[in-house]
Amino acid sequence: MNKNIFKDINYGMYIISSKDEKNVGCVINTFTQLTSKNPIISICLNKDNYTNKVIKKTKKFAVSILSEKFDSNIIAKFGFQSSEKINKFENIEYQIIDDMPILNSNTCGYLICEIIDIIDVESHDLFIARVIECEKTNDLIPMTYKYYHEVIKGTAPQKASTYIEEKTEPKKEQEIYICDICGYVHYGPITDDFICPICGVNSSHFKKNI
Ligand SMILES: Cc1cc2nc3c(=O)[nH]c(=O)nc-3n(C[C@H](O)[C@H](O)[C@H](O)COP(=O)(O)O)c2cc1C
Repeated sequence: MNKNIFKDINYGMYIISSKDEKNVGCVINTFTQLTSKNPIISICLNKDNYTNKVIKKTKKFAVSILSEKFDSNIIAKFGFQSSEKINKFENIEYQIIDDMPILNSNTCGYLICEIIDIIDVESHDLFIARVIECEKTNDLIPMTYKYYHEVIKGTAPQKASTYIEEKTEPKKEQEIYICDICGYVHYGPITDDFICPICGVNSSHFKKNI
């Protein structure tokens, strides 16, 4: 089985968000429109993601459609850290629509959805939901998963549905440091001003792996 074929499948880039005691959200690429009359869509969320737990309770979520101009630091925050530990909406621009937080800066638009079914797909849950409201907010170009990987040079964490393990062998006797936020592996020594190229945290988050 050559899993590289999965890299040829096209997706968009989205932030799923919801709200119970606080606003929560995460990056996904697994959004699909299923029907057009009274539109039904699906999203696939890892069972360990905090956003999954919250939307199971609220039965409602928003989808913000990211454009190519969307801030990659916000992707790092929403795609590699957990809403259980941090407030991802602190210091970023957002708007509340129909009680749901949506990201309104450099996004193409949004959908507000209500869950109609949840299907267990082993590590993930597939949420089937009806769109109860949606808006196109501007004409920016939607970001694709390919653009995120090839232009922004981003990666996806293990919890992403489409994660593919990439192995780079270290040179003999080279030090290895691993980011405790996103798992990025750095080969060679780390300086104090080193910043993780994937999730943007500083050198204190890098642990030496011997
Ligand atoms: C490019 C990208 C795509 C992702 N796609 C998915 C996805 O489709 N489903 C999923 O469950 N997680 C996906 N993730 C991972 C979640 O965004 C990540 O696990 C996040 O930290 C979960 O946050 P939460 O605990 O606040 O819900 C993706 C992350 C990135 C960076």
